[in-house]
Amino acid sequence: MTHVYVPRTLTDAAMTAVRDLGHPVVVGGEEPPTRDALLRDVAGAVAVVCTLTERIDAEFLDAAGPGLKVVANTAVGYDNIDVPAATARGVRVTNTPGVLDGATADLTMALILAAGRRVLEGDRLLREQTPWVWGPRMLLGLDLSAGASLGVIGYGRIGRAVARRAKAFDMRILATPTSSSLTEEDRLGVRFVELPELLEQADVVTVHCPLTPATRHLIDADALRRMKSTAILVNTARGGIVDERALVAALRAGDIAGAGLDVFDGEPKVDPELLTLENAVLTPHIGSAGTATRERMCRLSVSNVAEVLAGRDPVTPVN
Ligand code: DGY
Repeated sequence: MTHVYVPRTLTDAAMTAVRDLGHPVVVGGEEPPTRDALLRDVAGAVAVVCTLTERIDAEFLDAAGPGLKVVANTAVGYDNIDVPAATARGVRVTNTPGVLDGATADLTMALILAAGRRVLEGDRLLREQTPWVWGPRMLLGLDLSAGASLGVIGYGRIGRAVARRAKAFDMRILATPTSSSLTEEDRLGVRFVELPELLEQADVVTVHCPLTPATRHLIDADALRRMKSTAILVNTARGGIVDERALVAALRAGDIAGAGLDVFDGEPKVDPELLTLENAVLTPHIGSAGTATRERMCRLSVSNVAEVLAGRDPVTPVN
């Protein structure tokens, strides 16, 4: 019988749900499989429950063969998947929107606070046993509640969740225009402005758009030049949206005050120069890494597979 391929081990409950689908299950392991293993193990699969570390392209889909019905990505972003290639082969693609908004927004706030208030610089100072004494000018940073503005690039579910949290910190909210309903924005007092104005006015610029050809290096040297020298940039979306070389140069030159990054172009590699910068706070793509959130993501992926295998529409389709 055709199998369900799970290249990366999911949560325990989700693995049980995969086994309950009634197909043989081929599981990769905790670490990402090599490309060769990926192409070998998908051969003959009816469904794939993958993560953002697997590249799902025409070669992969062809290696699976004509029996493949669904690729369920356990992530909201699906820039790792060639969706037109899947559609052309009649393969449904699904993602996990909605269930990780809060966790990603929480981590975004953590990065805003850590970069803005220089939490890691303070932590390092103590751990390195640098002599210190309280001083009126010591480690001064960004006061969120003193009228600071948040600029949200990509005002979708996660962007809104960040805006709600920022509002509780008394921040003013700017966002790039969205086509969706404005009911909540009216309540939060969001001001919609075009990107150049947002970059020029925001004290914190936070990125929440998907990575597409149109958004690759959206934050480039020109965008960084527009930002205030006191501003911080936060990215919990995809590394490729920010030109990292330009960001390193801007952080070095003091063109912006700091950055909080959870995602990197070329992950899991991180630009070695970023690692040397005091004013960059770095985390290893843990935006959705809450225990309950990961459970919901994995379960949603498996539900999507179950629906397609039962001949129904998936819960959260991409194509
Ligand atoms: C996503 O869902 O796209 C995140 O980057 C991983 O949770």
